[in-house]
Amino acid sequence: MPLNAAGGKRRLPPSNHQGVNMLNRLPSSISALLEARADGHSLPAGLYTREDVFEADIDVFFHKHWICVGLDCDVPEAGDATVIDIGKTSLILLRDDDGDIRVLHNVCRHRGSRLLDAGTTIVSKLVCPYHTWTYELTGELSHAPHMGKDFDKACHSLKPVNFKSIGGLIYVCLSDNPPDDIALLEQTMAERLAPYDIRNAKVAYQTDVIEEGNWKLTIENNRECYHCSANHPELCVSFVDLDFGFDPETLSPEDREQAEEHFRLYDEKTKAWEADGFPSAAVEQLSDCATNFRTQRLIISGAGESQTHDATAASSRLLGHMTRKDLGDTHLWGHNSWNHFMGDHALVSIVIPLSAGKTLVRTKWLVHKDAVEGVDYQLDKLTDVWIATTDQDADLVARSHAGALDPAYQPGPYSRFSETNLDKFASWYIDRMRAHGY
Ligand code: FES
Ligand code: FE
Repeated sequence: MPLNAAGGKRRLPPSNHQGVNMLNRLPSSISALLEARADGHSLPAGLYTREDVFEADIDVFFHKHWICVGLDCDVPEAGDATVIDIGKTSLILLRDDDGDIRVLHNVCRHRGSRLLDAGTTIVSKLVCPYHTWTYELTGELSHAPHMGKDFDKACHSLKPVNFKSIGGLIYVCLSDNPPDDIALLEQTMAERLAPYDIRNAKVAYQTDVIEEGNWKLTIENNRECYHCSANHPELCVSFVDLDFGFDPETLSPEDREQAEEHFRLYDEKTKAWEADGFPSAAVEQLSDCATNFRTQRLIISGAGESQTHDATAASSRLLGHMTRKDLGDTHLWGHNSWNHFMGDHALVSIVIPLSAGKTLVRTKWLVHKDAVEGVDYQLDKLTDVWIATTDQDADLVARSHAGALDPAYQPGPYSRFSETNLDKFASWYIDRMRAHGY
């Protein structure tokens, strides 16, 4: 995998430990921290640990970029509603009486009270608990007692949020100027996700894990599999850790031959899948862009069907219109999510920062809407691998964050074989912060 040649001027690693420590401890500006980042290295500690950077990150990456917040199938029926909190912002994702998805700000237009509490609920109207202003599921204000005859309800609808459902994944952008380079993601994934019909899938299970670390460490951890063989015995049954890069010199001659064979197989499989009408080649937009994503149809190893303990399908009822279990794993990364779409089920993980050192990882396991637990799938088999993997990753992220808080922390070199995507992510992060004035 080629080493990223990120744009902008090249920064050399800080040459002495003391200089880095001073940056960690002294009240330097965010801009100075960005400037101090050396190419090919992890970020200066303050970019992971400081609360002022967390506030800036929320503003830049979670308000001014497109983020994945949920799924159409989180709210399958009219009146289903779920609340998603991002920083100080609270959103209501709901399905209205016409069956359309709406995303509304959870802020009453009277004096601002939250309408719904965190979690999922069923509503026929949105009634503010404070003075009972009542909104239709479209967001229109229908009842506002004691406001006088001349009060114009039409001017006090709940504020809508700019959103897109891309193949059943809900992306929102809280800015009035959402980046338009989401077009490539939209076009690519609408086609790739169509056979899985994620829009009409069922959320079979969901976990919320709070990682004791910065959201960028969560994303960095997800973008490499350097750590997989040492930490994810369950995932490694189906996931090939070499897929995201390796140093051929490190491998024994036998392992090197096996790796070469694996990449020959990729060429073969990708061609065969594409010939059958399933787009599979990698598409990525990771540098010089606002909307950061990568997708590729990956080979599942072993039995080749699904990310389960034995790599066979967990659900006998396949997703959507899928008729085959041998179509690998369509993976999709965004800057706040990772996803795996397989024949029998899909895994969707959404990352929401809670503070500089706490990050919510919300994971959903999706199956066909009519798949029945205990009949078509066993919940344990469906969820075991990624529950274990998510816990293992939470531990790794906490370790990373604790290290970044230590005065001895110094940004370290990314492997130019297996961590090139981290270098791209860190460079994209710096570029986007600068693009927004930091
Ligand atoms: Fe909502 Fe008064 S704040 S009705
Ligand atoms: Fe991991």
